[in-house]
Amino acid sequence: MISYTESLRGLKHYSLDGFCEGWKQPLTALQLRTIIKNSTYTILAVDKAQKKIVGIITALSDKLHWAFIPYLEVIAEYQKQGIGKRLMELMLEKTKDMACTDLTCDREMQAFYRQFGMTESYGMMIRRYENRK
Ligand SMILES: CC(C)(COP(=O)(O)OP(=O)(O)OC[C@H]1O[C@@H](n2cnc3c(N)ncnc32)[C@H](O)[C@@H]1OP(=O)(O)O)[C@@H](O)C(=O)NCCC(=O)NCCS
Repeated sequence: MISYTESLRGLKHYSLDGFCEGWKQPLTALQLRTIIKNSTYTILAVDKAQKKIVGIITALSDKLHWAFIPYLEVIAEYQKQGIGKRLMELMLEKTKDMACTDLTCDREMQAFYRQFGMTESYGMMIRRYENRK
């Protein structure tokens, strides 16, 4: 059974394996914990029986007008069970008082986000992976 929680409280010894699948420079478990702690809002999907964190969504927000969702991932073995959808629904509920909730994604992912009422936009970005320690 999957449960959903908003912090790492009580999850100190839970596994964070399997995230950043396919990334050239995957984040370490310590970096993931920092991201989870420092984000304005975080929702975690947890398999308590296996002591595993299996899904993460984060949002950064000014708590007035904008929220931005930089990270959503469900680890491979837990995908296609409705967890990603639930994480999005919970985060959109959390940020519902903001006029704008935005994210960037690859074109192939747009169909996934459309189901939550999101619409296509244009984006700009800088990536500094090669500079990161
Ligand atoms: C995208 C991701 C979070 C979806 O999580 P998931 O738990 O596998 O998705 P769900 O089981 O909740 O899917 C919910 C619905 O979305 C649909 N869906 C899932 N992935 C989709 C995709 N890539 N494109 C279109 N629809 C998709 C499912 O078919 C399902 O539809 P249904 O409710 O009609 O059956 C997950 O595949 C993932 O972590 N991928 C790798 C990381 C990634 O791409 N993150 C997003 C970066 S922008």
